Amino acid sequence: MLWRCSSVVTMNMNIVETVNNCRVLPVVVCDDEERSVTLAKVLQRAGMPVIELTLRTENALACIKAIKEAVPELLIAAGTVTNASALSRAVNAGADFVVSPGISTEIIRAASARDLFLIPGVATASEIMLGMASGLTLFKLFPAEAIGGTALVKSLAGPFPGIRFCPTGGLNAVNYQDYLALDNVACVGGSWMVKADMIENGQWEEIERLARAAIRTQKHVRAN
Ligand code: 3PG
Repeated sequence: MLWRCSSVVTMNMNIVETVNNCRVLPVVVCDDEERSVTLAKVLQRAGMPVIELTLRTENALACIKAIKEAVPELLIAAGTVTNASALSRAVNAGADFVVSPGISTEIIRAASARDLFLIPGVATASEIMLGMASGLTLFKLFPAEAIGGTALVKSLAGPFPGIRFCPTGGLNAVNYQDYLALDNVACVGGSWMVKADMIENGQWEEIERLARAAIRTQKHVRAN
């Protein structure tokens, strides 16, 4: 019997709503606190209300902490959270919610126990059903392009009418619009506007330009 995730009722609904409406979630890999704060300010200035910083570098937690202190109004997700202990560390660093590449009873329980918004990763119908059993309705579809792309997202609409996705993995400045045009896509995730080398080289103007384009373009997506 799975832990029942009643937290969807009590957790911070502002966070849930902002994420559901953000449309584009930048997925950041950064190991430098100063650069991560500069990046957060650039993305916020570009109009992005939420960012995901992945726990893939030694300094990722320090970056989350630094961003939360410097730009408190920006929502920050810890990404690549794969177990309960990483989830605890992310929350202690100041993450507002967590994103995982996969789904497990362990991570669902850990999030529920903390009343924490979790976006778990799924690639199959069975994984969606595992999350649904705990009341979850928003999933990261990962890695979206490799596992079927928009055709897969459309196929999942029939059996899972109440479920929405954040397709991530392999999206770029062009194909993300095809995902956003689908009714069961809440938002998309991607690193195309925050590539590690652009952050490393301090290409802030280029990052801001790409981020603004992602926000602007998605307002004019074609109907499904
Ligand atoms: C993730 O962890 O969400 C992905 O690495 C992002 O995928 P992308 O780099 O292909 O956008």
